[in-house]
Amino acid sequence: MSKKSLISIRDFTKEEILHVLETAKEFEKNKEQKFLEGKVIASLFFEPSTRTRLSFETAINRLGAKVIGFSDATNTSQSKGETLKDTIIMVSNYVDMIVMRHPLEGSSRYASEVATVPVVNAGDGANQHPSQTLLDLYSILQTQGTLEGLTINMVGDLKYGRTTHSLLQAMSHFNPKFIFTAPEELKMPQEYKDFLDSKGIEYIETTSLDEHLNDCDILYMTRVQQERFTDPMEYERVKDVYRLEASMLSGVRENMKILHPLPRVTEIDQDVDDNPHAYYFKQAENGLYVRMAIISYLLGYR
Ligand code: CP
Repeated sequence: MSKKSLISIRDFTKEEILHVLETAKEFEKNKEQKFLEGKVIASLFFEPSTRTRLSFETAINRLGAKVIGFSDATNTSQSKGETLKDTIIMVSNYVDMIVMRHPLEGSSRYASEVATVPVVNAGDGANQHPSQTLLDLYSILQTQGTLEGLTINMVGDLKYGRTTHSLLQAMSHFNPKFIFTAPEELKMPQEYKDFLDSKGIEYIETTSLDEHLNDCDILYMTRVQQERFTDPMEYERVKDVYRLEASMLSGVRENMKILHPLPRVTEIDQDVDDNPHAYYFKQAENGLYVRMAIISYLLGYR
């Protein structure tokens, strides 16, 4: 059995990324392809999720495999003191693949080192969320017709927002420019700016949402990640820092699309939902096709 895991988006080459996006297009055209009948996949969510868990589990079902797992680790033997290592070794013996979300950065990489089956990181703390990145890329490709030479304006919590970290690494294959819109407290971490510098990729930083709204092809909105703050007062200070409203979109580029990994809180007003630039609900739907493609690829089927 193939043992390739997806822990960081950097585990996939540009060619592998493009292959998964191409396969996802086929799944969007035909969702019922049950070539994984007889396989069992574990869905281990140690942290809350709506979209990632449900779209992975739907993908598993649509491919004909069976799913086992949990959405709340308090009902598992972790609550009796079982280690992550023991849990993963044991689950490996039951299944053909593990999809795991965990609050600790690095936990998915560790799981992939002890597992005997492929592991997909469904989010590890503030670190990485590579399946979200692939569905973001798919959404960008579907709306822009290309991944090359685009300007991406990332807005909100760029410090803790793992989807922005994965996305900038993936986009680095495609000659992008970045605008980072964040308050001082939630700026893009230096390690990611160093990464862009090492690739010669341009970025600018601003604290103003209005300043560069009209200068981008993709407006990538993010939620302030309350669960990552150690100081509740700091969260209170920044939680409502940006709010995108429909009235702010009159001068944006015609091709501009608004993406958001969701869930949103207050950063996108509901009056944006019917605007032609809004794409975030379709983006979440795309997660199903992309996750079908990821599973198929890692199990050596497509
Ligand atoms: N985008 C995302 O990861 O959503 P969930 O937390 O609902 O899975």
